[in-house]
Amino acid sequence: MDEHVRRLLNRVSIALAAVATAALLQLFHHSSSCLVGSHPYSSSLSLAPFPRTSCDAASRRVVDPDLRLAKLRASPRWRRRNAALSAAVFPRLRRLVLLRRSSRVLCVAAGAGQAVDALHVAGVGDATGVDLVDFPPLVRRADPHNLPFFDGAFDVVLCDDPQALTGALFPSRFAAEAERTVRLGGAIALAVERHVDLSTVASLFKKSRVVDAWNATLDGSAVSMAILINNGKSAKQ
Ligand SMILES: *[C@@H]1O[C@H](CO)[C@@H](O)[C@H](O)[C@H]1NC(C)=O
Repeated sequence: MDEHVRRLLNRVSIALAAVATAALLQLFHHSSSCLVGSHPYSSSLSLAPFPRTSCDAASRRVVDPDLRLAKLRASPRWRRRNAALSAAVFPRLRRLVLLRRSSRVLCVAAGAGQAVDALHVAGVGDATGVDLVDFPPLVRRADPHNLPFFDGAFDVVLCDDPQALTGALFPSRFAAEAERTVRLGGAIALAVERHVDLSTVASLFKKSRVVDAWNATLDGSAVSMAILINNGKSAKQ
């Protein structure tokens, strides 16, 4: 009887060891495949609505970009975000005659390109999306601290990610690059989290002044929005 119990326990412990090994292998495989696609700024990546994690980012490459965009467009979350941008942000820019159908718009921290898509839907054809991680077809890779565009190349620079500026490695550099790439008299429209003091944000932009500020809800998160006009003067030094 003792012998029988001992053998049974032996078998159980061997089975458990096998299960644990399999689990470890699985874990190792999973984490290493995530690391391949992970990014030094993975915190800002995971804050973007799509993709949610660096694992999603790693696997996204195998998907056809146009198919993926079609899928994203069909998702309720994407539609909500588009509706919010169209209702809460674009009319304010239009009212100030800062956004037209012919405007050239740069979307920084564009994530999967929701703002680019919303602009297209609103009839603004010339919208470019950039982020630290490329996300074709709407977003290509560019560092917001060092934008690969000429001075004054855009009429509007839009940042609808409320964590992009405050979470940037060098927020003042981020702001300076937005100011450099927007033309004189052009607009910078940005979202920041509701608790962030807008005057602190405004002080980062040395050549622009705030012309509109309001509270909005983007994707369920409470944000403060600001529109600044680039007047080229370094009055706030
Ligand atoms: C936005 O909301 C915050 C806190 O809820 C408030 O302090 C601030 O004055 C509001 N800003 C505007 C422009 O309405």
